[in-house]
Amino acid sequence: MIIKKSKIAVIGCGLVGSSTAFCLVTQGVCDEVVMIDINHDKALGEVMDLRDTIKYLDRNVKIKAGTYEDCTDVDIIVVTAGAPPKPGQTRLDTLDLSAQIAKSIVEPVMKSGFQGIFVVVSNPVDMIAYLIYKLSGLPKNQVIGTGTALDSARLQNLIGDMVHVDPRSVYAYSMGEHGDSQMVPWSTVTVAGKSFYDIIADNPDIVGNVDLDEIVAKTAKEGWEIFSRKGTTYYGIASACVGIIKAILYDENKIIPVSTLLEGEYGEEDIFAGVPSILNRTGVADILEIHMSKEEHQKFNVSANVIRDYCKRLKKYYE
Ligand code: LAC
Repeated sequence: MIIKKSKIAVIGCGLVGSSTAFCLVTQGVCDEVVMIDINHDKALGEVMDLRDTIKYLDRNVKIKAGTYEDCTDVDIIVVTAGAPPKPGQTRLDTLDLSAQIAKSIVEPVMKSGFQGIFVVVSNPVDMIAYLIYKLSGLPKNQVIGTGTALDSARLQNLIGDMVHVDPRSVYAYSMGEHGDSQMVPWSTVTVAGKSFYDIIADNPDIVGNVDLDEIVAKTAKEGWEIFSRKGTTYYGIASACVGIIKAILYDENKIIPVSTLLEGEYGEEDIFAGVPSILNRTGVADILEIHMSKEEHQKFNVSANVIRDYCKRLKKYYE
């Protein structure tokens, strides 16, 4: 008998890819990590550096530099390769270049016989995940965008700071586009089960005057606040990505807001958007349809329309 190894490939060895690999290795998430980059030497450099960590870690994760052919027996592929926005650009401005890069990756990966799960990080993530779904021909549950997983973490940090509790005790989702149009269904936000509206009402001295729209805007802009200071972001997204990977690999049925194909959920069709989803070994096992107010529903649909408009521009890449 041979026990199968859990194997993850990281495509794109920039700061997001290498931070993701670092999280995978330091947390001992899987048996093997394969680093792939068009600059093979860069991938090799990352591998050499990562291997130097092993002596001081709990687990000897095998790390190697590979090619698309190595994807044949990989469980999960993390796609981080893309076109980072230049100063003044939004994530949406990078659509065409990122789409070309995604296409150049998916074709050889599928040729390798890959049958696993794609976790897509490359921005604009909702559209690139949609494109990878179309190009790969894989079932919808096997293509997942990191979506609003990171935005939700940022939102929970903001709420946690406001009410002085650990953000992990805050249940709050950013939904829709991983971008400026994302929304928060405030009527469903709780701190360990207590409605956020009740917390505001009961604690005027602690919470004060809360402008909910301002919190949403702050959440959506957090990436740019980081970008304008250090030129890029990677720790947050790498951690979100590894959280998603663990939920899949360990068959957790954990609910994380990821970008997934909507087929009627929330009244939307044929787009990838960030919605709370149940993740396990099959990828996205199910979508949790939370009940929103009418106004929240409209905001979600506005964000979905932004995604839809951009998805339409991708047709030329898969038809
Ligand atoms: C961010 C990048 C990953 O929001 O889009 O940090």
